[in-house]
Amino acid sequence: MPTNTGSSDVRVVFTPSGKRGHFPIGTPILHAAQALGVDVDSVCGGRGLCGRCQVVHATGNFPKHHINSKSENISSISETEKVYAAKPKKTLLDGRRLSCATQILGDCVIDIPPDSQVHQQIVRKEADAFDIEIIPPVQLHYVEVWEPNMHDPSGDLRRLREALEREWHLTNLRFGPGMLLSLQKELREGDWKVTVAVDYLGQVIAVNPGFKESLCGLAVDVGSTTVAAHLCNLRTGEVLASAGMMNPQIRFGEDLMSRVSYVMMHPDGDAEMTKVIRETINELAENVAAKANRKLDEIVEVTFVGNPIMHHLLLGINPIELGGAPFALATDESVRIRARDLKLNLHTNTRCYVLPCIAGHVGADTAGMILSEAPHKREAITLLVDIGTNAEIVLGNKERLLAASSPTGPAFEGAQITCGQRAAPGAIERVRIDQKTLEPKFKVIGCDLWSDESGFSKQTKKTGITGICERIIKEGRTFSYILHDGEQKIHISQNDVRAIQLAKAALYAGIRLLMERLDIESVDRIRLAGAFGNHIEPKFAMILGLIPDCNLKQVSSAGNAAGTGARIALLNHESRNEIEEVVRHVEKVETAVESNFQQHFVNAMAFPNKIDKFPKLAKEVQLPAENMNGNIYDIDVPAPKRRRRKKANL
Ligand code: FES
Repeated sequence: MPTNTGSSDVRVVFTPSGKRGHFPIGTPILHAAQALGVDVDSVCGGRGLCGRCQVVHATGNFPKHHINSKSENISSISETEKVYAAKPKKTLLDGRRLSCATQILGDCVIDIPPDSQVHQQIVRKEADAFDIEIIPPVQLHYVEVWEPNMHDPSGDLRRLREALEREWHLTNLRFGPGMLLSLQKELREGDWKVTVAVDYLGQVIAVNPGFKESLCGLAVDVGSTTVAAHLCNLRTGEVLASAGMMNPQIRFGEDLMSRVSYVMMHPDGDAEMTKVIRETINELAENVAAKANRKLDEIVEVTFVGNPIMHHLLLGINPIELGGAPFALATDESVRIRARDLKLNLHTNTRCYVLPCIAGHVGADTAGMILSEAPHKREAITLLVDIGTNAEIVLGNKERLLAASSPTGPAFEGAQITCGQRAAPGAIERVRIDQKTLEPKFKVIGCDLWSDESGFSKQTKKTGITGICERIIKEGRTFSYILHDGEQKIHISQNDVRAIQLAKAALYAGIRLLMERLDIESVDRIRLAGAFGNHIEPKFAMILGLIPDCNLKQVSSAGNAAGTGARIALLNHESRNEIEEVVRHVEKVETAVESNFQQHFVNAMAFPNKIDKFPKLAKEVQLPAENMNGNIYDIDVPAPKRRRRKKANL
């Protein structure tokens, strides 16, 4: 403990925390840091094995601290440090010292580098995104257990508990019954030296013979189309490997409702879909573990996000109630479950955390998006939109947060579009059409060049179409626009335009409802998430009337926000409490029962909108002239289809 008396005491200041205290000469720096509650990592308990406790002795005069931190004020390089630095794959960078093997000899200033702190920060590259603070859900503790002898006949478990208390002050730990089966073997294999993994709830997850360096966790985003997994180092947050696979449930139904429909018509349909999604996760886990050269049983923690139907199927819950009003969830709370109960082939004690759902159509993926984007921490009114077959919408700020889903249908994912396809290499992702000549140029996924640039592979081949009349062709009673007339003819029909109109109108109507509920006419910032949100340029999303008017500089892509949310929940266990609390206060808006939805939908069929103005957008681009009704582009619209609203139609 720090002391304040004694003439032989010296002063120590730790940076960047600024924590300070007086200690007797000869105190190891690590002890001083721990006594002051300074954030310094350690797995080996000060034995010079782990190298986590590295610090830098800041030398010189520090008037602010009234300290002259001379180089001789700490002990010289110790034998322990030399042995550590000589080990393969170990590094003691220039100027760094092992704090457990270095003593304080005089007043000094000690800096704790970011990578020696338990609570590290991951700086996110996305503009305007909060950094991720790492508060690992599972930590490693190396201990040396006293061997049994004829005079001390206590059990191995008792002596392991005593070692954890003696060396780490860990008490009341829970050892599952399964741990006992292998404990004696592990202790003897490690010659009574073991590294114990303990989670933040005091549950012992694993006892590893000998010294163990690090553990991994898996963050999984279970989408209805694709499933993505990220293997992370639980200490540093580093993504060690990532992999994605198509969700094999697609064979039971392309979209979510057709999967619920499958369950309705096949008594064991839910069990079949649960089985295949779990197999996929096992396959992904094997894949990422192999890529990162890790063993499957090193994965000790898993987090999941997914929409309500994926959430239920993953957990083995029949999703039938989500197929019709009132769309009741089995639970809207977070779920903590053992991996083995989900039939995942990971460590026998691996725990899974499934983020909470918000409402029948607004799932754990939206909770992940909120965790990642943190609108609840901002003053600015933020609109988050995850665009897919169903669009999830979150609107609000630190005062109030609303959420809804809008039935956009599969048009944004390429279905129902004549030449549409999913986002995959070779798919056209951007098109620009010259307003005068109607000549197009386009970009495909997997190639950085525009189609009119040299080197655009075969697709640079001229289509042979040059005139306006040749681009627009009559098809029965409607017209189509020929985008490309190569080996594969790609055209956009009037029905395609209509499908996009219906989809974007459903999304916008949902957004408008939330704005109405919040009593606002504009939003401060917009973040577009999901695969579609990542590919569309904000300007064109707004021209389309997909999102409301906003300063274009404040509209950006949020990447895979749901997946990032899963990663945050994996790396920072306190974020789980945070999202559970936020979700409890999110106001759910059910678009199906809102009387204004229909009117907003009809207005939103126009480009960008029949009623709503886009003054900020108009400053950036020249919008088409308004017609006599004040509409930018108005068409007759059919009554909107309220998908997913009747059980009978599923
Ligand atoms: S605490 Fe492990 S090397 Fe210092």
